[in-house]
Amino acid sequence: QAPCIITMAPIVDIHTHVYPPKYMDLLRSRTEVPYVRTFPDAPDSSRLIILPGEDDPSTPSTSRGRPIGPEYFDIAKKIAFMDQHRIDKSVISLANPWLDFLSAEEAGQKAVEINDDVNEQCGLYPGRLYFFGTLPLSSDTDIIVKEIERLSTLKYARGVILGTSGLGSGLDDTRLDPVYAALQKHNQLIFLHPHYGLPSSVYGPRASEYGHVLPLALGFPLETTIAVTRMLLSGVWDRFSGLNVLLAHSGGTLPFLAGRIESCILHDGHLKAHGKTQNRRDVWDILKTNIYLDAVIYSEVGLNAAVEASGADRLLFGTDHPFFPPLEEDAKEWHSVNANYGAISKSLGGNNDKAQGVLGDNAVRILRLED
Ligand code: URA
Ligand code: ZN
Repeated sequence: QAPCIITMAPIVDIHTHVYPPKYMDLLRSRTEVPYVRTFPDAPDSSRLIILPGEDDPSTPSTSRGRPIGPEYFDIAKKIAFMDQHRIDKSVISLANPWLDFLSAEEAGQKAVEINDDVNEQCGLYPGRLYFFGTLPLSSDTDIIVKEIERLSTLKYARGVILGTSGLGSGLDDTRLDPVYAALQKHNQLIFLHPHYGLPSSVYGPRASEYGHVLPLALGFPLETTIAVTRMLLSGVWDRFSGLNVLLAHSGGTLPFLAGRIESCILHDGHLKAHGKTQNRRDVWDILKTNIYLDAVIYSEVGLNAAVEASGADRLLFGTDHPFFPPLEEDAKEWHSVNANYGAISKSLGGNNDKAQGVLGDNAVRILRLED
């Protein structure tokens, strides 16, 4: 269903991925997940294998991972997609699993190459493309901090995309404090995005019958919810009260579960005994002060929860392109994109200012995207 909001405001997509040429070279050079390759039974089509478990030899090679075409790496295709869906500006980000799998020695240099690569691609379409940079998280923290400082000098960089693994032990790791301090100091937003999902055992022995539905629909959002709750419990926002985080997929399930998280904190004897239930910033405060949510939730019900949790002025339109393309060969517009437009229209259509905010004005303000 086509969007029925008529907007004079720019439409900005803040959740949209690329695998730039330098990263594609890296994926094509590898034989372990993540990698890109063709299989002998379908030599004309490359497949992208990125998620944990996607490489299982019991899965036929023609359904392993997903087909990968130029929409994943050709920036002209991104612009064509934007034009087709009335998107004026995009804040592109490297797709998962970023540089998480590289050795400490490789990661620093690759981050420089890839961030420069993406910055250059943004420069080909001035005013239309910006980006979230990628960090060499397997390197030492001083190298990570250096890349944050360097990113803040790149013309089109507006923050960083981060998975949930941090330096290997998650985002509640106090060894990340210099990284958080640098991001806060340079006013760079973290775009927190899932990749690892949940342990495959929770999907059960019949998981392979269900395609990617369980890991993508549930594993991803729960991974994000757990990561952000661990940040909260470890006091990241008590130490870095100006650290801003944009949560993928409308916060996973955070808006829906925030009340339960708070209640569990306030009823926890261990936390109480350690003085951790008092003088703390609660989830609701952080949701309205430090957290932004994308509007990539595909339905009005989820979007209403996001609006209630963070406020319509903290919600930002996204598509997740090039993932979730239409499966029919002859489809024109993407159903996944129109589901997100439709949810904004249904949830906020009665308030044009709020709808325009979510569609683009909020992103322009928060990410400094003025022409
Ligand atoms: N699948 C992925 O691996 N990443 C996304 O961003 C979306 C779907
Ligand atoms: Zn995504």
